[in-house]
Amino acid sequence: MPHDFLSFFLAWMSAPGRVGAIAPSGEALANLITSEITPSTGPILELGPGTGSFTYKLLERGVRQENLTLIEYGSDFMRLLQVRFPGARVLWMDAGRLAGSALFEGAPVGAVVSGLPLLNMSTRKIVSIVGGAFSYIRPGGAFYQFTYGMTCPVPRPILDRLGLKATLLDRAMLNVPPAAVYRLTRRPQSRLANSSNAASSKSDALISE
Ligand SMILES: C[S@@+](CC[C@H](N)C(=O)[O-])C[C@H]1O[C@@H](n2cnc3c(N)ncnc32)[C@H](O)[C@@H]1O
Repeated sequence: MPHDFLSFFLAWMSAPGRVGAIAPSGEALANLITSEITPSTGPILELGPGTGSFTYKLLERGVRQENLTLIEYGSDFMRLLQVRFPGARVLWMDAGRLAGSALFEGAPVGAVVSGLPLLNMSTRKIVSIVGGAFSYIRPGGAFYQFTYGMTCPVPRPILDRLGLKATLLDRAMLNVPPAAVYRLTRRPQSRLANSSNAASSKSDALISE
């Protein structure tokens, strides 16, 4: 929606680091990041939905609003999302606090769709977000993340620590600016290291930034 460009730009002016983009994602990127999701994916967690570019695409793909949990830290965006997606669960919270928030019973989530600006975040924060999200993802589920950077925005040491692998899904060259989408999944045989059992000295060094 044209109106979204203005509200997005104003939000970026007031908190550029948190918003991380001057405009909402376009159709090509929304198509790509949701391309593996179907109505049978089950519960979906969306992180940083902003004005809902990816959320609308999920609905177009047949996902029911009742299967959506939207985590947004911008209060204006959060209110807008509540109006636009009244059947979804919209939570005003920092995605860095996912772990221990008991958002779901067990780990039923089939996919996480993230628009979070990870490149603007510390290592510690990325570990909390990705580790927290995977605590809700069922076996075989995936975490989809876009980036404007040339490489995966979750650095290799964090993937190693969390027992994850990253695969480049594709690039959306028509997005402005062009973006790439990565799919994060658990490595075979690996168990998610959570904050309590991953306190090796190597990990401590990793998060000491
Ligand atoms: C680059 S925008 C992406 C918005 C939308 N997904 C899109 O692609 O158009 C990043 C979004 O993440 C939200 N955000 C940033 N940090 C967050 C955090 N710690 N927890 C939840 N949302 C956050 C911002 O408020 C903003 O809506």
